[in-house]
Amino acid sequence: MTHQKPVLSIIVAIARNYAIGLNNELLWHISNDLKRFKQITAGHTIIMGKRTLASLPNGPLPKRRNIILTDSPGEQFSNCESASSITAALEMVKNEKEVFIIGGGSVYAQFLPIADKLYLTMVDKDFEADTFFPEIDFSQWQLIEKTVVEDDPQNDFRYTFETYERLGTI
Ligand SMILES: NC(=O)c1ccc[n+]([C@@H]2O[C@H](COP(=O)([O-])OP(=O)(O)OC[C@H]3O[C@@H](n4cnc5c(N)ncnc54)[C@H](OP(=O)(O)O)[C@@H]3O)[C@@H](O)[C@H]2O)c1
Repeated sequence: MTHQKPVLSIIVAIARNYAIGLNNELLWHISNDLKRFKQITAGHTIIMGKRTLASLPNGPLPKRRNIILTDSPGEQFSNCESASSITAALEMVKNEKEVFIIGGGSVYAQFLPIADKLYLTMVDKDFEADTFFPEIDFSQWQLIEKTVVEDDPQNDFRYTFETYERLGTI
């Protein structure tokens, strides 16, 4: 029987200056984005770094298998599994169809070179930050879906939902 690897998908909201976080928090509150995130990741496995887990106000995300990357051997997180390397995390999800990398900065940087798919929320404003997404070489990615949101009454900036697949892999 041939073995199919899961599609490795990154999901992230990125400012114009590639900012994604400050003081272990997000930089904005975009309800539409949280809704979309929930819809896309529901029922799937999510992989995140230990600092991103700590940033979640209610802990691990329900209705999803939460895998936490940490170097601390034997560390236990309730309602989560832990992995001590990218390789270990990938081994744990090898039988799944699609797996979501949900941050933060250090984890995105490690997965971007091997990701198959990007679900981006591109926020059209610069933000002060201490955590950034690595530069994306868009020549390697094909845009498959794009929705512009110009008129969110909650926010004074526009943002775009963009989905990309890596050219030549899927
Ligand atoms: N805009 C967005 O869409 C978005 C999404 C998610 C997060 N964020 C933001 O990103 C920021 C957090 O990012 P961050 O870079 O500081 O932290 P992070 O990537 O969430 O977590 C870093 C920690 O994860 C563990 N880790 C990472 N790679 C590992 C590996 N290969 N093997 C084992 N352990 C590994 C290490 O934990 P140990 O210390 O245990 O070794 C490391 O200290 C926050 O501001 C958050 O709000 C933004």
